[in-house]
Amino acid sequence: MTAVTGTTATTATTAIGIDIGGTGIKGAIVDLVTGQLVSDRVKLATPKGGRPHDIIETTRTLLNTVSKNACDLPVGVCFPAVVKNGHTISAANVSPKWIGLAAEALFEKGLELPIHFANDADAAGYAEARFGAATGVAGVVILTTLGTGIGSALLNNGVLVPNTELGHLQIDGHDYETRAAFSAKERENLSWEKWAGRLQKYYSTLEALFSPDLFIVGGGVSKHHEHFLPLLDLKTRIIPAVHRNNAGILGAAALAAEFPN
Ligand code: BGC
Repeated sequence: MTAVTGTTATTATTAIGIDIGGTGIKGAIVDLVTGQLVSDRVKLATPKGGRPHDIIETTRTLLNTVSKNACDLPVGVCFPAVVKNGHTISAANVSPKWIGLAAEALFEKGLELPIHFANDADAAGYAEARFGAATGVAGVVILTTLGTGIGSALLNNGVLVPNTELGHLQIDGHDYETRAAFSAKERENLSWEKWAGRLQKYYSTLEALFSPDLFIVGGGVSKHHEHFLPLLDLKTRIIPAVHRNNAGILGAAALAAEFPN
C-alpha cells in the first residue's frame, strides 16, 4: 500500500470507507475518481451481540489497520440501521441498544476523528449511482442488498431518498427480510430455486408499489447472480450491482469526501 497523506476533506480524491454489517465490518481506502479500492480490504467479524461499545472498538481496530499509511483522509462509516441526524433509530441485526443512540458522536469519540455516518444500503446506492450500475440511469432505481438483512436504496434520477428500509416490507404476515435475505437461504438451507420463489414475491411487491425503472441487486451473493436472477419473472430489468459487496465501502468513502462535517 502506498502512503496517502495530507488531503483535506473538500479536495479529497481518496477517502476511507467502513461498512458495518450484521456479520462483518469491512473497510478500505477508496480512489474517488475511479471508484476503486486502493488498499487491501480489511474485514473483521462483527462482535457477537452487536453491542455499541464492542462494534465501536472493532471499528477502531479496523480503522487503525486501514489508515496505517493514510493520515488525514475523510472517513465514512455506514451502518445497518435507520440513521437520522447522526442517531441510529432502528436495529434489526444488531443489538437493540443502538435504538435512539447518538451513534455518529459515539463513533467520533471512539475513533477520535470526524466521520460521515449513513445507512449501509444508502451508501451502497450512492456508490452505484456514482460509480456503478445506476450511473446516469434516469427514473426510479431501487437497489437492494441481500445479506444478513435486506437493505434498500431508492434513487430518482440519481438522487437518493434515504432510510427507505424496504427490506422490512410486510408480505404474507412476515417482515420479509426474515424470508428473503441471503441469511434466510443459508439458515433454512434453501435451494436457489426455492429462494428465488421468495425473491419473486419480494420484487413483485416492490414493482407493484414503486413501478421502478431498474432493480440493482447487491450484497455478497450478487456475485452468484446467474443462479437466481434469471429465475425471476419481472417487468422491470434486474441486474447485479457492479461493486457487489464493496459498494458500502465505496459509498461511505464518497459521502465522507462529499459531505464533510
Ligand atoms: C436494516 C437496514 C439495513 C439492512 C441491510 C436491515 O435489517 O433495517 O437498515 O440497511 O438490514 O444491512
